[in-house]
Amino acid sequence: RYPQRVQLIDVGPRDGLQNEKSPVPAAVKIELTHRLQDAGLTEIEVTSFVSPKWVPQMGDNAEVMAGLARKAGVRYSVLTPNMKGYEAAVASQPDEIVVFGAASEAFSQRNINCSIAESIERFAPVVAAAKAAGIAVRGAMSCTVGCPYEGEIAPSRVAYLAELMKGIGVERVDVADTIGVGTPIKVQKALEATLQYFGVDQVSGHFHDTYGQALPNTLASLEMGIWNFQSSIAGLGGCPYAKGATGNVATEDLVYMLQGMGIETGIDLDKLVDAGLYISDFLQRKPNSRVAVALMNK
Ligand code: HMG
Ligand code: MG
Repeated sequence: RYPQRVQLIDVGPRDGLQNEKSPVPAAVKIELTHRLQDAGLTEIEVTSFVSPKWVPQMGDNAEVMAGLARKAGVRYSVLTPNMKGYEAAVASQPDEIVVFGAASEAFSQRNINCSIAESIERFAPVVAAAKAAGIAVRGAMSCTVGCPYEGEIAPSRVAYLAELMKGIGVERVDVADTIGVGTPIKVQKALEATLQYFGVDQVSGHFHDTYGQALPNTLASLEMGIWNFQSSIAGLGGCPYAKGATGNVATEDLVYMLQGMGIETGIDLDKLVDAGLYISDFLQRKPNSRVAVALMNK
């Protein structure tokens, strides 16, 4: 009934750290990425090539990418909202670039300063250039169940965005619950809408855990055969344009659940917990992972 194997993308260095109030040095981001790959993560979302005026936390993007000791078999991805971001990113040799749109018009405006239709016009040359250069292309779709400005989002809006993403040649998409308001049936509807345009192997779940629903939403996705998920080490993160939203589901919690279900992830939970403690110690807080805390107290 469930997939035998799950592929995780840790988005901690990017989604996790883009919202931190105090600056995190590039060296710490690099060390975190190294610890994630040592724990067995084979996909890591490292940074974003966005405007440093909008998101100063990612202003060290090139420095972080340049400092990585890349491990064979690991895919390093970066966010690129437009050609300017793409051109800067390419110099850093990412394995995958991520264009990011939203199923909600209001969120698109707040997050990337343009409408959904305009965003697709900006993404199209990025996708074409990346494919010509042999770089993989992913599309993130925000607010697929709820939006901080528009409230509930209908599955038809998700289908609309998925069709546009498919139309410009995006290879795979993330169905994101940006503010973590989704519950299993709603998430399944957003996934169904996306599956009209992308195969089950090309769709991943990106669930923020604001309301504690990310694990049930993951289970609901697994039931549909989805086997790609994004999570954030130590549950770090949030989006600067989604006030109050917390981080993605903690990678430690997701791995614990999957291991308990006998689903293969290739990840060493002890090393993962250590990676989470490394960044949590730096940030001077407890990991936002129930599993990490439980194992610490054992
Ligand atoms: P804009 O102001 O509309 O862009 O911003 P513009 O083309 O008019 O340019 C304005 C200025 O920005 C110019 O500089 C450009 O050079 C510069 P100036 O002449 O004023 O000095 N600029 C750039 N600089 C660096 N890199 C670039 C770039 N583009 C323009 N790529 C833009 C449009 C998208 C750039 C802006 O709105 C932005 O950076 N937004 C930040 C978006 C962001 O990072 N959001 C968080 C990530 S998305 C997320 O977290 C959701 C996700 O996790 C899924 C989920 O959970 O929902 C993925
Ligand atoms: Mg996110």
